[in-house]
Amino acid sequence: MSKVSCICLFGFGTVGKGVMAVMYKNSYIVRNRLELDLRIAVILTRRTSKTTMINANSMQKNPIYEPRMYVLVEAVGGTCFARYIMLSTLNTKKLLVTANKTLIACYNFELRRTYNNILLEASVAGGIPILRILEKALVGNMISYVAGVLNGTSNWSLSQMYRLGVPLKRALLDASQRGYAETDNTCDIDGVDSTQKTSIIYYITLRTAVTIRYVFFEGIRTVSLQDIAYGKRLGLNIKLMSVVLTIRKALCATFPCFVSLNWPFWIAEATSNVILVVGDCVGRMWLFGKGAGTKPTASSIIADVETIRYGSSSYPTKILTHTYSSITDSRGGFYVRSIHISFQECKESLNILLKRKLNLISFRVFEVNKRLEVIMVLINVFERSFKRAVVSFRGFITTYRVLL
Ligand SMILES: NC(=O)c1ccc[n+]([C@@H]2O[C@H](COP(=O)([O-])OP(=O)(O)OC[C@H]3O[C@@H](n4cnc5c(N)ncnc54)[C@H](OP(=O)(O)O)[C@@H]3O)[C@@H](O)[C@H]2O)c1
Repeated sequence: MSKVSCICLFGFGTVGKGVMAVMYKNSYIVRNRLELDLRIAVILTRRTSKTTMINANSMQKNPIYEPRMYVLVEAVGGTCFARYIMLSTLNTKKLLVTANKTLIACYNFELRRTYNNILLEASVAGGIPILRILEKALVGNMISYVAGVLNGTSNWSLSQMYRLGVPLKRALLDASQRGYAETDNTCDIDGVDSTQKTSIIYYITLRTAVTIRYVFFEGIRTVSLQDIAYGKRLGLNIKLMSVVLTIRKALCATFPCFVSLNWPFWIAEATSNVILVVGDCVGRMWLFGKGAGTKPTASSIIADVETIRYGSSSYPTKILTHTYSSITDSRGGFYVRSIHISFQECKESLNILLKRKLNLISFRVFEVNKRLEVIMVLINVFERSFKRAVVSFRGFITTYRVLL
């Protein structure tokens, strides 16, 4: 006989509706495969008129404390009510499944030290089971590198800027008209959303908590069409990259980055996410898929709900310590555009780089509106040395990291 599991669903927006729809359509698959009967017993939303009660008409108590409710799915968003749900759930030994990256990035690290009944697969990369892969499937690997394109809104906007040459504002308007972006897209554009996801990946990979304020992040607000056009000439596309490095000192960062054709990050279009995981046994592992949206997110939520079969979450609570390094200590490639009024100034800039023995692999000069625009690409340089060199340039400069 199938084991029945009653679910209380908080929130009935994009994600909540997806969970309901997928359960309605596919719950027989879970029942047949796992002998587990998943049933949504209660759906709670902000407006009481929307509160729905299914199979739980006799329920008098707060659903969090209702003994028949084994699984609570939080699809509310934000950090106020969602935090109340989380804190109330922890002491009940019930399973809390959440898609709320903000809540997790802000509070969960501390809570997971003591409690292992929080499941968060849906909080990162929608339908791609990246956390499960890092935490369980690759547990026998020394993971050295995780990098990905994790934000649909900025990905869509950068793609439109690259392909059609439209400014960011228009690309964003288009994204929200097509339902790829929310009305308030500040967190997406300024890189906060990607940073929250990256810090969760960092935590899962290293079992070390990192506070968001120590994480390096830069958004796409300042990415200019001129730079994208020059990048295109060099065979480079721009993406908002999230990176977790774990070799020796750890690093967690999000920044706009030029990517060459050698990297499948190029494939990331619209809301799709692309993630690279490098482990010492498996080598490079690429994951592609829908990083947001109703059904992909619901798919991850249902995968988390399924762990109720084990009684509680099987995730470890141990927190380790790891030395965190600054992005300025890292090595990488850089793109620089500097604007000069004379050839003498261009020569001076070039001399600064050569004097410091920085690996310059491309140097091009373009004449635009009686000014000289110099495009340089450097590889394998220390960020600190690079930054010290370019501050001595005369004239306006823009710089981006490059992955060749
Ligand atoms: N959308 C995605 O593709 C996606 C992907 C991955 C993760 N997530 C995460 O999933 C969470 C939910 O996202 P969403 O897109 O589904 O949001 P949404 O469409 O805005 O829906 C939020 C739902 O929560 C309810 N709600 C909000 N505040 C509440 C409160 N104080 N008390 C009770 N109910 C409340 C809302 O009820 P009312 O309608 O009555 O206001 C609504 O039903 C967020 O944390 C988000 O980051 C979303």
